[in-house]
Amino acid sequence: MSADTESADTESADMTGPTGPAGSDDRRPVLLSLRDATRVHGAGTAVPVQALNGVGLEVRVGELVAVMGPSGSGKSTLLHLAGGLDTPSSGDVVVDGVSIGGLSAKARAAMRRRSVGYVFQDLNLVPALTAAENVMLPRELDGVSTRKARAEARGALAEVGVEDLADRFPEEMSGGQQQRVAIARALIGPRRLVLADEPTGALDSLTGEAIMKVLRTRVDAGAAGLLVTHDAQHAAWADRIVYLRDGRIVDGGSFR
Ligand SMILES: Nc1ncnc2c1ncn2[C@@H]1O[C@H](COP(=O)(O)OP(=O)(O)OP(=O)(O)O)[C@@H](O)[C@H]1O
Ligand SMILES: [Mg+2]
Repeated sequence: MSADTESADTESADMTGPTGPAGSDDRRPVLLSLRDATRVHGAGTAVPVQALNGVGLEVRVGELVAVMGPSGSGKSTLLHLAGGLDTPSSGDVVVDGVSIGGLSAKARAAMRRRSVGYVFQDLNLVPALTAAENVMLPRELDGVSTRKARAEARGALAEVGVEDLADRFPEEMSGGQQQRVAIARALIGPRRLVLADEPTGALDSLTGEAIMKVLRTRVDAGAAGLLVTHDAQHAAWADRIVYLRDGRIVDGGSFR
């Protein structure tokens, strides 16, 4: 494949989801900003991996941005940085006006719990907890009462259509059901930044579309979203699509 990537396809930057161009308003506040962000794994070793290379990206309130690109192109790395799970080797990541790099590990964890809903590529449900308990966990850690957290968890599970599985353990659920529980966990509480790494991977197309609608609705209600997907139909729910290749945005980002 040629390294010469013309951005003739500017249309993709304006692509709107089935519900319309909800987030293309430049006056909305920027909730997530990556500034020339780079992530090198194994720096100083014989084979450092440049997983992300000078990425600039802004996501505004009300905006859902899809991230596409081949395996190994840096999509998960980008989400990890955006969610404060990892810090950039150089450059900066700013969430809701706060620079991630300047926070202690403890402050970053608190920021993640309060502000960031994260659907991991490998789900990361706690095996010893039921679906409801998994979903409640971030709220309880944040000091919300068990009673309130449980009610919120029921609501979030209902939103993704698995309220009847509240008392099941992860191993008693199908992959797609576990995936929906992981999405409910990311949506519970007043999370303003929703990061989803292939959240529809284990879902049939009808369920996948329903989940996209849930994400879209949350974003329209005042959150911002970053969604990794390989599915063009799901990406069509986004306001724009950024394409990654070899750790760089090759189309659709906001450039440094
Ligand atoms: N902890 C790590 N140590 C070393 N290299 C890593 C680490 N994590 C990721 N990488 C490398 O960084 C690059 C980007 O990985 P990343 O997981 O972001 O890709 P991806 O686009 O999410 O791929 P996929 O579609 O397969 O999930 C890859 O070359 C990967 O091997
Ligand atoms: Mg990945």
